[in-house]
Amino acid sequence: MAEVELKHVWKIYESGFEAVKDFNLHIKDKEFVVFVGPSGCGKSTTLRMVAGLEAISGGELYIDGQLMNHVLPKNRDISMVFQNYALYPHMTVFDNIAFPLKMRKMPMSEIKKRVEEAAAILEISDLLKRKPKALSGGQRQRVAIGRSIVREPKVFLMDEPLSNLDAKLRNQMRTELIKLRRKLNTTFIYVTHDQTEAMTLGDRIVIMNRGVIQQVGTPKELWGKPSNMFVAGFIGMPQMNFIDGELMESENGYRLFTAGAELELTETHQTLLKGRQVKGGKVKIGIRPEHLHLSENGIPASADVSELNGGTLNLHANVGGADVTAVIQLTDDDIHAPQVGTPIHLSPEPQRIHVFDPETEENLLYGSYVNE
Ligand SMILES: Nc1ncnc2c1ncn2[C@@H]1O[C@H](COP(=O)(O)OP(=O)(O)OP(=O)(O)O)[C@@H](O)[C@H]1O
Ligand SMILES: [Mg+2]
Repeated sequence: MAEVELKHVWKIYESGFEAVKDFNLHIKDKEFVVFVGPSGCGKSTTLRMVAGLEAISGGELYIDGQLMNHVLPKNRDISMVFQNYALYPHMTVFDNIAFPLKMRKMPMSEIKKRVEEAAAILEISDLLKRKPKALSGGQRQRVAIGRSIVREPKVFLMDEPLSNLDAKLRNQMRTELIKLRRKLNTTFIYVTHDQTEAMTLGDRIVIMNRGVIQQVGTPKELWGKPSNMFVAGFIGMPQMNFIDGELMESENGYRLFTAGAELELTETHQTLLKGRQVKGGKVKIGIRPEHLHLSENGIPASADVSELNGGTLNLHANVGGADVTAVIQLTDDDIHAPQVGTPIHLSPEPQRIHVFDPETEENLLYGSYVNE
């Protein structure tokens, strides 16, 4: 059992800087939660408060229902892996992994058993006699993870553990982490600024900006129902397109217009907008590149550069001065990218259109995230 609960948690550094503001989250037993957001948004600060490495300025932290605010890090039964994992260069892999257990004066037979188990899980059993300098980056990272596994903590905290690895190794280690998580079956809190990592690893994702939670949800929820333009723009690659539009209320419901075209709204749109009593006016229309298609008619645009991306083509275009991207699926080897400057038309899939308030940036279909 390891539930982690943060209630109205604040971090105000001595300088007066508010790094984390009113953070509320209930992490369930065995859940894998990812904190994601841009640099400086307060991810590490929050994680360090859970670990006890940073004092909590306001609010409460509970682990398994017990108040932890003033419990020492070593008594929280938590283990943390950092981005800059430091291995002891003069020690073998075995001794590096065994180190926290030796510190606890655990009997050698038990140490050996735990190190060998961890090494087997991480597939580094044949490296136990080596020194860190004779390992690759990914192997070193696995040793660092091994050192945190052997302690058998209630909660694993990981702060950008893969960010020092190259892209290929990072993908590989991501898969390893998914397997590791299945084997260990404990609670994980994982920090990253990489949305792909967040989307592939997290049961739930906490997306932060400037110390404030923007939304908490499953990857599917964040992708399909982003609560505001920040979340909508952060999740998804290439980024969601935002174009200026005008929402109008008529007798037959809402109508949506943008640069030279009317966009079709679905019954669901009508119900959601009406349900929230949304007023007509200027809006930002959000369309993901994969939901925007070349068509006979639709939004008039002018083709810009195209990038071939494996089986797809990222077509950049200009819509009334704004840059938009459409992902075009290529069905055969025949690649017809429109020439730069060619007039084209783009149509969004109606059921995938998002509508945002241009001032508050909230999603007009679903409303803001309720932080409680
Ligand atoms: N000791 C400190 N005193 C004052 N401000 C601090 C201190 N430590 C961090 N901060 C500030 O708090 C904010 C949050 O920092 P934090 O390290 O939590 O960000 P982060 O989300 O982990 O970013 P990154 O992705 O770059 O690691 C930043 O603006 C940072 O400058
Ligand atoms: Mg950080």
